[in-house]
Amino acid sequence: MATILAVETSCDETAVAIVKNRYICSNVVASQISLHGAYGGVVPEIASREHLVTINPLITQALTEADISWSEIDAIAATAAPGLVGALLIGVTAAKTLAIVKAKPFLGVHHLEGHIYASYLSEPQLKPPFLCLLVSGGHTSLILVKDCGQYESVGTTRDDAAGEAFDKVARLLKLGYPGGPIIDRLAKTGNAAAFSLPEGKISLPGGGYHPYDCSFSGLKTAVMRLVDKLDPDALPVEDLAASFQRTVARTLTHKTINCALDYRIENIVIGGGVAANSGLRAHLQEAAAKEGLRVYFPPLKLCTDNAAMIACAAADHFARGHRSSLALGVQSRLAITEVMKLYRN
Ligand code: KG4
Ligand code: ZN
Repeated sequence: MATILAVETSCDETAVAIVKNRYICSNVVASQISLHGAYGGVVPEIASREHLVTINPLITQALTEADISWSEIDAIAATAAPGLVGALLIGVTAAKTLAIVKAKPFLGVHHLEGHIYASYLSEPQLKPPFLCLLVSGGHTSLILVKDCGQYESVGTTRDDAAGEAFDKVARLLKLGYPGGPIIDRLAKTGNAAAFSLPEGKISLPGGGYHPYDCSFSGLKTAVMRLVDKLDPDALPVEDLAASFQRTVARTLTHKTINCALDYRIENIVIGGGVAANSGLRAHLQEAAAKEGLRVYFPPLKLCTDNAAMIACAAADHFARGHRSSLALGVQSRLAITEVMKLYRN
């Protein structure tokens, strides 16, 4: 059973965790949301500088909380792709330096594989194959999980990620950043049937629609047009939030359930920050139950960015003998199907 110390700095959370296989020993996260809020989105340079300030104290905190000494750590891991390059570099450099100084193996981890592994932390008995709906600020993907490092990307967004759509609509409604949790809260008291909004469907050249790909830019534009027509001093923000949220939840639920049925997959897991959305959870749960499918929702703390999920993915790779080179660079983009490029042969 491998004990991994992992670092995650791909976006605006500095995170360090220590995980024994699928058991969390410590999991600390320092959010930068208050620093970026004023700009309405993540400012990459600010993110990198803040990671630099926070990373060392956080590593010490993770070791203290886990009550674990360096001798008990088998390997050191860090998110190496995809993400903001400057931000990734801080975590990867910290992890590689520790790997050299403490003479431990180093593993670079794919951020999305980490989100998939969050479900193993909450459901240690879960076994592939299963379908993962990954919905975050930067990604919206339906991924068929076959085994550790073995993924097939079956559906994606053609434009905005689901979380990005929440954040952009929240900005339109002048609600603040990040928009997802605010819209989720407002939607609870709104009428979801107040406005009819379009589900983003992708037309196929031969007719019909793409079964698993989706689009959110048309939905965002529809909300923008509505807002332009409504009285700005009496904007029904709760109804708009509820109608928007229901449309996103419906779109994601249709695609996910269709995909699971087509591929004859019984287990669905959900990951990424938007997995925290109460409307999506309720919708997906209800639709899955009707079809006799099971949906696993990791606890919210494991849905948003954290290093425990990165450590858990690294532990599985470590057990299979996978190691990364100390010359491994960081990459802003890397498809989930290319996870194994992070490891030496
Ligand atoms: O996975 P995550 O923490 O970071 C990455 O993007 O990797 O996801 C952040 C995204 C943001 O867009 C945020 O608005 C969204 O997740 N989010 C939510 C909720 N909580 C966070 N979206 C909808 N409903 C929520 N309750
Ligand atoms: Zn993420």
